[in-house]
Amino acid sequence: MSGAAESLPEYPLQRAAECPLAPAPAVQELRAAKPITKVRIWNGSTPWLVTRHADQRTLLTDPRVSDDDLDPGFPYVNAHRAEIAPVTPRLITNTDAPEHTRLRRTVNGPFVVKRIEKARPAIQKIVDDLIDTMLDGPNPVDLLTALALPVPSLVIAELLGVPYKDHDFFQSSSSLVLDSTAPPEKAREVSGALSAYLDNLLGEKMTDPGEDVLSEMGGRVKAGEMTRTEAVHMGVAMLIAGHETTATMISLGTLALLQHPDQLAVVRETEDPKVIANAVDEVLRYLSIVQTGVRRVVKEDIEIGGVVIRAGEGIIFDLHAANWDPEAFPEADRLDVRRPARTHQAFGYGPHQCLGQNLARLELQVVYGTLYRRIPTLRLAAGIEELEFDHTGTTYGVHSLPVAW
Ligand code: HEM
Repeated sequence: MSGAAESLPEYPLQRAAECPLAPAPAVQELRAAKPITKVRIWNGSTPWLVTRHADQRTLLTDPRVSDDDLDPGFPYVNAHRAEIAPVTPRLITNTDAPEHTRLRRTVNGPFVVKRIEKARPAIQKIVDDLIDTMLDGPNPVDLLTALALPVPSLVIAELLGVPYKDHDFFQSSSSLVLDSTAPPEKAREVSGALSAYLDNLLGEKMTDPGEDVLSEMGGRVKAGEMTRTEAVHMGVAMLIAGHETTATMISLGTLALLQHPDQLAVVRETEDPKVIANAVDEVLRYLSIVQTGVRRVVKEDIEIGGVVIRAGEGIIFDLHAANWDPEAFPEADRLDVRRPARTHQAFGYGPHQCLGQNLARLELQVVYGTLYRRIPTLRLAAGIEELEFDHTGTTYGVHSLPVAW
């Protein structure tokens, strides 16, 4: 490694122990002093780090900025991601227009607001049932296992059209696939079983379609708009992309609200669904849980903010830094559930902006709108300094969240 590379800040940057929900202090300093600057990552490579809200919007919609993770300049999150890139099928997560546009069009339909809203009663029932069970069980309890983890997996099972009789299999295999501490061979075996299961279910839905996402993809496979393999991979991708993220927004979101009792009171006491919806976006902004940033590689030289990003260089977009940019959100370090928060970038920005954002918003609206009302005395059953935060995963989170009432 060159001396110049060694002197660069090492990304990801460290959060301050006393402010576990705030972005790393150094990332905030970079945003003020060097908003587009080089950093060093795990493999010694030196991609650019973009921290301002406005610069992220400009670059994430620039067609020269690519999601092609086969490009040698791509700034992989870790060694595992670098290793699997060449054997990963081309999906919406690693293609550019026009291929990305084609693939995204085949899966967008079920995720538009109008379609997603139809799932509200089913999601409300899932959340109500889990809270019933929680209230009947031990007190204190870990909110992660009681509510945060089961909600997204039950919801995605419902949305994909997994029959009720298979929920146990689906739930246990998906949590194993998502468990980063599981032995790799076990994870591979279960992941294979899950793909085979989804492939089989897709086949059934192609002959006997229902109102679910797999049936919709089955129709597209029959029409020749996507391959069967793409449909199965998309099913698995939806499960993985939506699980830990949504679960974390339930657990860490609850922690953030418990830390701000005046804000929690607004959420608990409102009769207005718009207030809940805005609170969800504000907590998304405040926490910006995708802590490894959005990663891209540049295909042609780009001049921006007095620097030239050369073709073949990587870029990391730090979402938390952008969402705490005072030019976009005055007093950004304040959790204020009534502020206009919708322009946050917690779901990314541009063509790859989160496919499941309307679903995630809906799940969180139901949870935030139900949990604190039904359990108004909910409180943390441990000191915040006792909580173990996950600093290494794609998603920032807590390993468990003991709560009592
Ligand atoms: C609070 C929960 C969630 C957060 C914070 C989140 C965050 C993100 C972010 C930041 C991206 C952009 C990645 C990039 O530009 O490279 C993304 C993409 C994506 N998300 Fe989510 N996500 C959430 C929930 C979900 C759910 C529930 C699903 C289920 C369908 C989902 C599926 C996806 C997919 C498939 C993509 C790739 C889209 C593309 O590349 O075109 N996400 N998400």
